[in-house]
Amino acid sequence: MHTRQLGKSDMHFTVIGFGAWAIGGSGWAFSWGQQDDQDSITAIKRAIELGINWIDTAHVYGFGHSEEVVGKAIAEQRDEVFVATKCGLVRGEDGSPMPKLTADSVRKELEGSLVRLGVDVIDLYQIHWPKPEDEIEEAWGAIAKAIEEGKVRYGGVSNFNVEQLKRAQAIHPVTSLQPPYSMFRRGIEDELVPYCREQNIGIINYSPMMSGLLTGKVTQEWVASLDAEDWRRRTAEYADPNLSINIDFVEKTLRPIADKYEVQPGQIAVAWVLRRDLVTSAIVGARNPKQIEQTVRAADIHLTDDELNSIEEGLVERAEKLKAAGV
Ligand SMILES: NC(=O)c1ccc[n+]([C@@H]2O[C@H](COP(=O)([O-])OP(=O)(O)OC[C@H]3O[C@@H](n4cnc5c(N)ncnc54)[C@H](OP(=O)(O)O)[C@@H]3O)[C@@H](O)[C@H]2O)c1
Repeated sequence: MHTRQLGKSDMHFTVIGFGAWAIGGSGWAFSWGQQDDQDSITAIKRAIELGINWIDTAHVYGFGHSEEVVGKAIAEQRDEVFVATKCGLVRGEDGSPMPKLTADSVRKELEGSLVRLGVDVIDLYQIHWPKPEDEIEEAWGAIAKAIEEGKVRYGGVSNFNVEQLKRAQAIHPVTSLQPPYSMFRRGIEDELVPYCREQNIGIINYSPMMSGLLTGKVTQEWVASLDAEDWRRRTAEYADPNLSINIDFVEKTLRPIADKYEVQPGQIAVAWVLRRDLVTSAIVGARNPKQIEQTVRAADIHLTDDELNSIEEGLVERAEKLKAAGV
């Protein structure tokens, strides 16, 4: 799989990275429901076999569980992958994720991540959310110190806007930004992409398939069958009126293009975010080896101008339908 340089770092990330949110398992606020750890480990190993060279996780994904599973999966292959994780969300008194970016807290999370992942150094350590906002500088200073000490190689941020990126850049260079980006969430195109290009900050986007919505498997029945804990049950895009309109878009716009390449609509969604070098790498989630085997095919799809235009038209039509439905 081809790679792209991550910002000014010496790391070259494959254009698809493995996202380890869903494998954090059940029992916390943003869980995807029950997950078999063995499936997760085989999925990660298969991803590496297929050429993916980097993994994104976070302390909050199951409060350490995802990092432990990643640690087990890469134990004998540490040199073949870059490991990225995140800090800034700790377990609150009621068990739900609580934003915290004090230097002490970041330090504690980092020490825990190193142990859970079973590594001496974390390749990319990221602030998960810019919250509490007044603690950004403190957390970023703590990450800069960890880089000096050799516990972290590069620092990145996630869900930051341009203003917040500038505040971090004033203290220490930001290697990468991890924003949401997909056909349905294009907010980064106006300001963040131009700023990151100008500053040579890598963009590693999350949820290119809208966490499953664009894969082509979603129906009303499929949503109704989701695990009771699955966070997608509480999301507007997975409930009507949005859901029917979204499914319509996938079937009418993405499916015909996918058929031409003999793939599923999800791979077209991933190929779309990778078009024109807009992002460095797309982080895709997978819960078993079969999913990642399907998804990696996106790295070899180069959408034509006609296909890109037809997607734009489909998106306009979807926006009109949502407006008419009062969304
Ligand atoms: N920084 C942040 O705030 C933030 C936020 C969100 C995500 N992320 C990162 O980005 C990663 C990717 O995000 P995401 O998991 O939302 O992204 P996604 O790649 O858009 O969706 C992944 C989900 O789609 C389903 N899926 C994957 N491959 C499939 C296939 N071939 N066929 C059918 N279904 C398939 C799986 O769930 P089911 O099988 O259950 O449907 C999987 O968990 C996360 O793991 C995490 O590392 C970061």
